[in-house]
Amino acid sequence: MTASRLVTRLDDPFNAGAPLDVLGRSYLTPVDAFYVRNHGPVPLLRAADHRLEVDGLVREPISLGQAELAARLPRHELVATLACAGNRRAELSRIQPTPSPLQWGADAVSTGRWSGFRLADLLEWIGIGEGARHVAFEGADQALTGAGPTSFGASIPIDKALGEEVLLADRLNGEPLTPEHGAPLRAVVPGYIGARSVKWLRRVTLLRDPSDNWFQARDYRRDGRALGELELNSAITEPADGAAVQARPVEVRGYAYGGPAERVARVELSADGGACWQSARLLDEGPGEAWAWRLFAASVVLGPGEHVLAVRAWGEHGSTQPPDAATLWNEGGYMNNAWHRVRLTVTA
Ligand code: MTE
Repeated sequence: MTASRLVTRLDDPFNAGAPLDVLGRSYLTPVDAFYVRNHGPVPLLRAADHRLEVDGLVREPISLGQAELAARLPRHELVATLACAGNRRAELSRIQPTPSPLQWGADAVSTGRWSGFRLADLLEWIGIGEGARHVAFEGADQALTGAGPTSFGASIPIDKALGEEVLLADRLNGEPLTPEHGAPLRAVVPGYIGARSVKWLRRVTLLRDPSDNWFQARDYRRDGRALGELELNSAITEPADGAAVQARPVEVRGYAYGGPAERVARVELSADGGACWQSARLLDEGPGEAWAWRLFAASVVLGPGEHVLAVRAWGEHGSTQPPDAATLWNEGGYMNNAWHRVRLTVTA
């Protein structure tokens, strides 16, 4: 267990958030600070014994060991942000409670350098069958759901699955995956909610329709529709909410991420409820990484007293985040991308 810097949010199953100050200061989130979202106990699998089954609407079903995958398919790597659909749920719950036991702050997001094999390469090699329109993933874990014990699963449309960014990853930040992050093999679906990046991947199935797995068909839905693409979002990671600071320019840091529809173009901060905004500096690291977040920093001059800082990101096509979380409330507590606010006391 590499949970040294994580903040435990639930013991059983183990769920833990990334420390916000670490998030805002490291473009690549160190593995020991990378958030963990589990729906059941972490399976301990040995890479040497692991098999990946590929079946459904394929030319011929196949079972592959890790060594065979590595021998058959070229290795690729990319930097990608993983964000849970429940990131920032706690702010929604302050408006009206949500039933989830996991009340994430802005800590259910992290960015890693993933290495592995393109799902597109695997599918091309195996042969996509007639009528295949969705690719389903199944994990080796068992979660307790409203339908009893269930393997965690998800599916993505085949067009997404064939994108060169979708990986079957066995390494994170240059090291073999740890058990909590899905060892020995996981899906990484950049630009989609984290729930589609299935860990402990043991089966890939080509289907005509989306997966009927509980977590695709029943959970991770809003207004009756399955969640998929991430939306523009941002958060202040420093100073912490409720912090007291001395009157001098306050150094503000944070992260912003987009989705497939809209990548981050700029980030703004307001200290007066949104009447005036100043631009934050986008930090240099990773500007070329299409699937990764941008970190930002800004110096904000504030007089003594109580203040509320707000942040919003703008996308490359001109959209931005909604001001008010109340308009976004949903029972699942998903997809909160309202302006993120922190309260500050500035002393003389
Ligand atoms: N895969 C399996 N097999 N079981 C899970 O519980 N949780 C999902 C996804 N993949 C999950 C899973 C969710 S909701 C998220 S947000 C990401 O894994 C989190 O990945 P991480 O724990 O590596 O940060």
